[in-house]
Amino acid sequence: MDVVVRSAEQITPRIKSFELNDPAGAPLPEFEAGAHVDVTLPNGLVRSYSLLNHPGERNRYVIAVLREEAGGGGSAWMHDSLKPGDVLSITPPQNRFELDEGGDHNFLIAGGIGITPILSMAERLDELGIDFKLYYCTRNREETAFAELIEERFGERHVFHHDGGLREQMLDVEALLRVREPGTHVYVCGPPGLITAVRNAAHDWPKGTVHFELFGSGRVEIATENKPFDVHLKRRNLTFHVPADRTILEVLAENDVRVRSICREGYCEVCTTRYVSGKVDHRDSVLDPEDRKTMMQICVSRALPDETLVLDL
Ligand code: FES
Repeated sequence: MDVVVRSAEQITPRIKSFELNDPAGAPLPEFEAGAHVDVTLPNGLVRSYSLLNHPGERNRYVIAVLREEAGGGGSAWMHDSLKPGDVLSITPPQNRFELDEGGDHNFLIAGGIGITPILSMAERLDELGIDFKLYYCTRNREETAFAELIEERFGERHVFHHDGGLREQMLDVEALLRVREPGTHVYVCGPPGLITAVRNAAHDWPKGTVHFELFGSGRVEIATENKPFDVHLKRRNLTFHVPADRTILEVLAENDVRVRSICREGYCEVCTTRYVSGKVDHRDSVLDPEDRKTMMQICVSRALPDETLVLDL
């Protein structure tokens, strides 16, 4: 579907938000808290962006984009070239990060650009009158997107945690999640380190109460549509074709190149592999931005379009 950009606003030095409308002013398809749309960029790349506005709104979708210099160029194009009046091609909203409206108490934890789906969830819980507290982790006040809006909308139900970008000053999620009342859910969206910390702290919570989605340096820049690509193994001097419906790990196994794996979903770190060249479409939920410059999880991650990956195997 096509949408028209109604407004573009610089929210923080690195985050810009865009309001999208139906070109004819018609109501947009409904969405639920946590939903995203896939945006097709002029270079054919597909990017996923969460809808951050109130899920009851039908007149607009609001997305926010973190500028990532190390990404595939998608966020830079959104920041530099997309302007009011432009038409964007998007998918209708889809949801892989659903809000369970049956929870009695909810921790909403966001890191950086991961605030986007969490904001929509907070709006929905507020509307339903369900208990929640929003924890928003950023480096400092300047990089805290929608700070005034959050203060105004959610009052004492929010906590800003500024860590100065230092891991040792990260929100103490273990202490936060140590005491859990019955019927409590936790939702976390942000960089891999934050997600891992929450999942570890809540490892013994009942099934279905811990919800997470990777954002920050990874999720936002995921090309959601699988494309085929070639992978070259440097030490063996072998090249394999990875079809759209296969992972690197599967293709290597079929060709008798064994790499250890356990979860095959990008979170156990067992299949971590060093790559030598090529741009990676990181889809794991564990590697931090520094690790991602040289390592990838070959059970889930792929090559960005038109890239050939060279692995240190
Ligand atoms: S097998 Fe677990 S991250 Fe790849």
